[in-house]
Amino acid sequence: MAEPVPQDPFPDDLEEAILELKRERNAILLAHYYQESEIQDLADVVGDSLALARAAQHADCDVIAFCGVHFMAETAAILNPERTVVVPDLEAGCSLADGCPADAFADFIAEHPGARVLTYINASAEVKAMSDLICTSSNAVKMVQQFEGEPLIFAPDRHLARWVANESGRDDLIVWQGACVVHEQFSAKRLAVLTVKHPDAEVLAHPECDQAVLDQADFIASTTGIIKRAVESPAQTLIIATEDGVFHQIHQKVPEKTLIQAPGMDESCACNQCPFMRLNTLEKLYLCLRDLEPRVTVPEGVRVGALRPIERMLELS
Ligand code: 13P
Ligand code: SF4
Repeated sequence: MAEPVPQDPFPDDLEEAILELKRERNAILLAHYYQESEIQDLADVVGDSLALARAAQHADCDVIAFCGVHFMAETAAILNPERTVVVPDLEAGCSLADGCPADAFADFIAEHPGARVLTYINASAEVKAMSDLICTSSNAVKMVQQFEGEPLIFAPDRHLARWVANESGRDDLIVWQGACVVHEQFSAKRLAVLTVKHPDAEVLAHPECDQAVLDQADFIASTTGIIKRAVESPAQTLIIATEDGVFHQIHQKVPEKTLIQAPGMDESCACNQCPFMRLNTLEKLYLCLRDLEPRVTVPEGVRVGALRPIERMLELS
């Protein structure tokens, strides 16, 4: 007897099926700029970490399907205890969040008695719950300014910390030494060669990059800031040092401009694609809306602790 032919679990028109499930579930689809373009095109809101936290705060739906990484979906869950938050892939982590375990961070805080704690949103709910205030790359300088005259821990990104320290004139930040695997791999040496080849190009960079890269940047900002500048800049050629998911939005807004990826240290790899963000696919998005799994939940004690510094940031932004 012939073997049964396995059934393809996916409908032919996956995009339409996702939109249909979204309606059936009364779901909202939030996506970060580092998602593949097909996911961005289906989303109700595409944004940076701050915009997505705001969108989650104002969500009016039963289900939030979060296409980003775990800490972003967790932030949505913290803000929405009564809603179901699902993600395409539960394994979509972040080197910054994963590199700052809650128990080690508790010890770090204990080593600096009296210091206040400002935490980048790229951190777990447990770490957020130990913090006085949260920031994103688009409001970090303003959030540091809330602690004038007070000893201040900044975690978990050392590159963002150094940039914020320079911008705010705070040279005494107590810094957790984490880094982003994507932004740390841009090569300052190869970028310098590229800028010589393109003398009229403007260099745009995310503050998670190494100082030697930021030193060559004409403009430093969050993903939203980079996209906005790329559109508004008089330069026709832009060299961009961040995850290349942002190219999709820029191409749509200014298709005539030339976009060049800042070079990585390893020429042979697509290292400026976040390996965590790119775990999400249309197929997994379809499945998570169909099955309402995997879900992101936060224990209530941790949620309440993390909510306070997130809400404070949203109020101040
Ligand atoms: P943005 O908040 O600038 O979008 O950054 C998020 C992030 O993970 C950067 O790597
Ligand atoms: Fe985390 Fe870096 Fe990926 Fe952003 S790009 S989610 S900081 S690993």
